[in-house]
Amino acid sequence: MISWDDFHENDKRTEKTSPAAPRVAQATASAATTPTPAVVPVDVPAAELNVRGLETPAAVVNEVISRVSHNLNTEIDGSAHERAAAALARLDSAPGLEELEMGAERIQVDDKRMINCRADLNQLVPFKYEWAWQKYLDGCANHWMPQEVNMSKDVAMWKSNDNQLTADERLIVMRSLGFFSTADSLVANNLVLAIYRHITNPECRQYLLRQAFEEAIHTHAYQYCIQSLGIDEGEVFNMYREVPSVARKASWGLRFTQSLCDPNFTTGTTEADQHLLRNLIGFYCVLEGMFFYCGFTQILSMGRRNKMTGVAEQFQYILRDESMHVNFGIDVINQIKNENPQLWSKAFQQEVIQMILEGTQLEVEYARDTMPRGVLGMNAAMMEEYLHFIANRRLVQLGLPEQFPGVKNPFPWMSEIMDLRKEKNFFETRVTEYQTGGALAW
Ligand SMILES: [Fe+2]
Ligand SMILES: [Fe+2]
Repeated sequence: MISWDDFHENDKRTEKTSPAAPRVAQATASAATTPTPAVVPVDVPAAELNVRGLETPAAVVNEVISRVSHNLNTEIDGSAHERAAAALARLDSAPGLEELEMGAERIQVDDKRMINCRADLNQLVPFKYEWAWQKYLDGCANHWMPQEVNMSKDVAMWKSNDNQLTADERLIVMRSLGFFSTADSLVANNLVLAIYRHITNPECRQYLLRQAFEEAIHTHAYQYCIQSLGIDEGEVFNMYREVPSVARKASWGLRFTQSLCDPNFTTGTTEADQHLLRNLIGFYCVLEGMFFYCGFTQILSMGRRNKMTGVAEQFQYILRDESMHVNFGIDVINQIKNENPQLWSKAFQQEVIQMILEGTQLEVEYARDTMPRGVLGMNAAMMEEYLHFIANRRLVQLGLPEQFPGVKNPFPWMSEIMDLRKEKNFFETRVTEYQTGGALAW
């Protein structure tokens, strides 16, 4: 038996005795004669330690720790192995094999369906929806991380007292971070808790997993901005429960998640499948497809004026991801419509138009709240026109009639700024650029 006290004693003796062999022998002798409580049981012959040429007390201690650890692991592994072997001997594999449908025929493309599919969802190929796989590849090629963006100019500008930023501009930064810091979590939660299990196609699920990670990166980006600028985190993250224009947008989306989160909810009936469609339209077309656009436009306008360029750069990468999320969601929705035409009834189409109009109105209210006056070359009226333009775009993408005839895009630079390759000067701080342009036909 060897205790830590013995080593302590051994250290003292080392100062007086040399060479190593007698020193270790003393340690062993001390252990034998001093009845100190053992910390761990270990069998380490002093002679063997000496043979290995351990010259210092620290080396002896390290060797013993190593052996104790090895002995303990061996002991744990041994019993764990026995338990594992015993458990496997008793395992009834019938339920698992039934799930796998052993011997079933290989998957055919025609077996695959966007919802209510009975084919094996663990087999990625053959692809039925090549566009989904391509979006997954494009998303991966666009990978980025918030720490790659230089925030030093933003920090200096945000903390300066020389009016580099007006009060209205500061309000826009605070509101944007407040809304987006929680909105992307709402989207991510909806993906993994509500949508994923009901989309019965593996290539689309592959994209959903990619999207979920991108949403985590977006939340990370907002947190990174908040932390870099030294903003009160509690104030920003709680804004969606304190500021009405932010809270109303969040609560509008949340109810769609709640209705699908019920573990007893399953698709397979017209009513239930329409419920899923409502969720997809609410999140992809309204939350990601409309609620993000006022804040994005404001922050990117700020970046174009050489203000808060780090925050703007983060938002630019996020906007690019988001435009692909919207396109993916619309493709999924249209595919469900094609495969299940009974869901797309006239009454349901009216309901969808109503949803888009509600979303437009909520975003207009947000624009008015965040822009009480003209700022950054824009105002609430221009933003309202832009949101009407976006609403028309979403409706057309869903095969529905425009609701704001003749409206023009007052911010054509927004569609250009989404393609980062055209904005190289805006990204001088970034070492590597995006690899591909992605699908930006929004
Ligand atoms: Fe996002
Ligand atoms: Fe998104």
